Amino acid sequence: MAENGIKFFELNTGAKIPSVGLGTYGAKHGVIQNTVTTAIKVGYRHIDCASMYNNEKEIGSALKKVFNEGMVRRQDVWVTSKLWCTDHLPEDVPKALNKTLQDLQLDYVDLYLIHWPVSAKRGAMVVKGENLTQPDIPATWGAMEALYDSGKAKAIGVSNFSANKLRDLLEVARITPAVNQVELHPVWQQPQLHEFCDSKGIHLSGYSPLGSQAGENVRKKVLDNPFVKWVAQEVGKSAAQVALRWGLQMGHSVLPKSISEARLKENLDVINWSIPQELLPRFSLIEQEKLIKGESFVHESYGAYRTMEELWDGEI
Ligand code: A2P
Repeated sequence: MAENGIKFFELNTGAKIPSVGLGTYGAKHGVIQNTVTTAIKVGYRHIDCASMYNNEKEIGSALKKVFNEGMVRRQDVWVTSKLWCTDHLPEDVPKALNKTLQDLQLDYVDLYLIHWPVSAKRGAMVVKGENLTQPDIPATWGAMEALYDSGKAKAIGVSNFSANKLRDLLEVARITPAVNQVELHPVWQQPQLHEFCDSKGIHLSGYSPLGSQAGENVRKKVLDNPFVKWVAQEVGKSAAQVALRWGLQMGHSVLPKSISEARLKENLDVINWSIPQELLPRFSLIEQEKLIKGESFVHESYGAYRTMEELWDGEI
């Protein structure tokens, strides 16, 4: 891998995942279509979707348009989607992917992930832990493996899995997950999970790499972090670019979300420069705080996890 140009990471399938992808969570109806078109126009080749984001139809229309106009070819854009918690029953898994493919107007996704290690009643809303059921990850994973065999998902993986949950999965998996997509940024670096995934050939992909959209104050924890800001000054880049570039230099793909053209461009301009190697160890001195805790997936009587500790296996 070149010191500067980190354009792709190679997965255990041999596929190359573009290192910067567009996050699409929370992009409102009527906005997302334009955002995806603009992102492709300014050079994004990786779109991170999920059925739970409730905007795959609009993303599908945007993709159809850019393909039809010849702006890019299907094989040049990486599309990820995710299986929602209400679709974990093995017979529901292929139906869920079919619905996603129909909405995205695609024949295959490049990567399909189990969104959370959490399951819920078919068709239910997951609000404050209600409607949660006992997950059977081995059974759900078996259905994911069948999707990989069918070619409708060119790679399969998981999201929000602790090292413990991955370890359990690896004991029964025929196909090792290609990716674990988790919260990753300078304020939540997860070194143990990183080491575990590295040792198993599982690529880590970072969501909310700028500290999420969960409110201005939350985001500031990353972008206003004094060390991140200092490095930004040193290298003549923005704090957002430093947070993203840190991820790339750690070997993580990053999935920043933005609806602004200027910030889309800014967030993509992290490929051809680097944070000096000697500064990297100092990131580990940043005080750590998990910003996305998954409160909705913990309940005193429903589902598998009574506490946050159980959901994250103490990695919180
Ligand atoms: P906007 O969509 O208006 O650009 P994350 O990717 O960590 O979830 O963070 C996304 C949030 O950060 C969104 O609210 C987004 O707002 C904002 N954002 C995206 N890019 C930047 C940037 N380069 N600088 C500051 N804020 C950004």
